[in-house]
Amino acid sequence: VSTPGPIPDADAGLARPAGAKQRVLTGVKPTGIPHVGNYLGAIRPAIALANREDVDGFLFIADLHALTAERDPKKLAEDTYSVAATWLALGVDPQRTVFYKQTDVLEVTTLAWILSCFTPMGLLYRGHSVKDQLDNKGVDEGELSHAILSYPVLMAADILLYDADVVPVGKDQKQHLEIAQEIARKVNNHAIAAGHGPVLRVPRAQIDEQVMTIPGLAGRKMSKSYGNAIDLFGTDKALKDRVMSVKTSTVEYGQPLDPEGDVLFALFALLSDPGATKRLEAQYRAARKDPAVADAALADPRTNYFGWGDAKRALLERLLDVLGPARQEYARLMADRAYLRGLLLEGAARARAVAQTTLGRVSAACGFVP
Ligand code: ADP
Ligand code: TRP
Repeated sequence: VSTPGPIPDADAGLARPAGAKQRVLTGVKPTGIPHVGNYLGAIRPAIALANREDVDGFLFIADLHALTAERDPKKLAEDTYSVAATWLALGVDPQRTVFYKQTDVLEVTTLAWILSCFTPMGLLYRGHSVKDQLDNKGVDEGELSHAILSYPVLMAADILLYDADVVPVGKDQKQHLEIAQEIARKVNNHAIAAGHGPVLRVPRAQIDEQVMTIPGLAGRKMSKSYGNAIDLFGTDKALKDRVMSVKTSTVEYGQPLDPEGDVLFALFALLSDPGATKRLEAQYRAARKDPAVADAALADPRTNYFGWGDAKRALLERLLDVLGPARQEYARLMADRAYLRGLLLEGAARARAVAQTTLGRVSAACGFVP
């Protein structure tokens, strides 16, 4: 008589194989030119994580998700290349990280359907993008696209298909991660009841609290939709115009500037080491370029004054410094589409191997004849 093994814990989901690295996965919608908020809030932390020695990174371009909003095929294609070039230019290593686009691994749509069968409508109606469409945008329920409602299901499929342990996302995606966890648990409960054990790994969100919301030029969250974004890969002149046009409070020249709550300072700090940030803070508080020099020591003390123009120039210089190499690499990559396409296809082949294994497990638990 065989003794029954331990009862699998559905909440924990499918366990990570012993010795395997944590799988970190994130997706990015190809919508428009990325801005500094995207970079600091999402791209930089995701790349830092993906490049860690103890991490198995998956990164993909969510072109199916983009279709919920983008209906110009030329633009969608262009943005897909652009987002690929952006992430590569900013430090994704395609050897180390599995880098692909969603529509190159269509197993995801099959899994999304299966997950749909386990997803109560109530879970989706509570989704904030649905509420936003119905309550704020005045969209009639009958006109609401099915994709807006089922967006989180496809996103859950993106995550669950690849056995992700950790999903680094912005705060705005927290709810989507909770939905993915809930769907995974429901499928696991079903699979366990059917005698299959858990078939999906339950992922966890990772939200970098420190840079949760990057401020935009008028203080509000930096966002394409608010028109307050600094584009990463615009021309030098565009970058300069953007930074120089930031509205600042009126402070008499030579009087201290308050770094607290100032968007220029906040952005500078996010792009700098603590030493450089401390030096800038001292300049703000003293309103002097070199706070160690006494006014009396100068023929014209105003040459040492530090005003908003200097604060803007400090940020601009920092942006050009930090982003300079990436800006060049981006241009180089955008001029070589065939290379980008080939790279994404290689990534998709690696991703598909994982996708087929997961889908096989789930299909068996559903009773699809192999
Ligand atoms: P936008 O608000 O400009 O439309 P997206 O919604 O395309 O930006 O955001 C893409 C990613 O960048 C998301 O993960 C989002 O959380 C992150 N992100 C965008 N803006 C900011 C911001 N101001 N601060 C922090 N993260 C941001
Ligand atoms: N919804 C995410 C966004 O708007 C993009 C996304 C799609 C995603 N699928 C994902 C993010 C899976 C993380 C994991 O930014």
